[in-house]
Amino acid sequence: MSANLISGTELSKSIRASVTERVKELSAKGITPGLAVIVVGDNPASQVYVRNKVKACEEVGFFSSLDAYPASISEKDLLGHIQALNKNPKIHGILVQLPLPDHIDSSRVIEAIDPSKDVDGFHISSAGALVKGLPGFWPCTPFGCMKMLESINYDLKGKYAVVIGRSHIVGKPMALMLLDKNATVTICHSATVNLKAITLTADVIVVAVGKRNVLTADMVKPGVVVIDVGMNRDENGKLCGDVDFEGLKAVASHITPVPGGVGPMTITMLLQNTLDAAQNTHPA
Ligand code: GUN
Repeated sequence: MSANLISGTELSKSIRASVTERVKELSAKGITPGLAVIVVGDNPASQVYVRNKVKACEEVGFFSSLDAYPASISEKDLLGHIQALNKNPKIHGILVQLPLPDHIDSSRVIEAIDPSKDVDGFHISSAGALVKGLPGFWPCTPFGCMKMLESINYDLKGKYAVVIGRSHIVGKPMALMLLDKNATVTICHSATVNLKAITLTADVIVVAVGKRNVLTADMVKPGVVVIDVGMNRDENGKLCGDVDFEGLKAVASHITPVPGGVGPMTITMLLQNTLDAAQNTHPA
């Protein structure tokens, strides 16, 4: 068997095209979705991420702002900037790029964002809504993974889903989203004993650990669907995910590549959430 690839690049193109269409319709009514991105300090990876987010906004016709503050900014001043954005009617979504410097309490900063503008889905209200199955913004990376499963018409009802990784950003919300679609979900993590015994039971596996070769062909049953959230570099400096892609390709029915898999979907779902935030303020 050679697995079908689920291309995040292709899926992103089609979702971004529909976002662009919707932006045109909203703009005709005088509403332009607006995203404010905040970055603190000079973490090189964060600088690249925020530039890509702002560029993606421009491409779909959003208004966007990028506020870059020095690492020395006080928590109080940062909270003041967020309060101003909360009140700014041109801004429908606020994203604070993480990590923040050690002297700033990230939770306090995230909780300061108006939940109606929490397009990253990290606010405690958004997390609570996801737990309770209520409407709210879903964190972009796991939301993108769900869209990838939807794109292959994968019916999760009654399926055994295994999530490897328990971060607040990916693993935990991912498990809740799979549960919301009636999968039977197991979360595995660094203290899991006999990971292979669990992954062998899975119909679908999402891996979000940040380490290479966490999942190999001997750990899965034939026909499994594999979603790889990882982004690592191999010994030659080439981008790779958390799974043994070549090995798994021979046994899986579907697998996401790295690059070109989950990566592009994160920003795409940020655009979708921001569009939804703008629409929510101007119901049709
Ligand atoms: N840092 C790493 N990933 C993310 C993300 O999805 N959102 C934000 N705000 N910061 C991040």
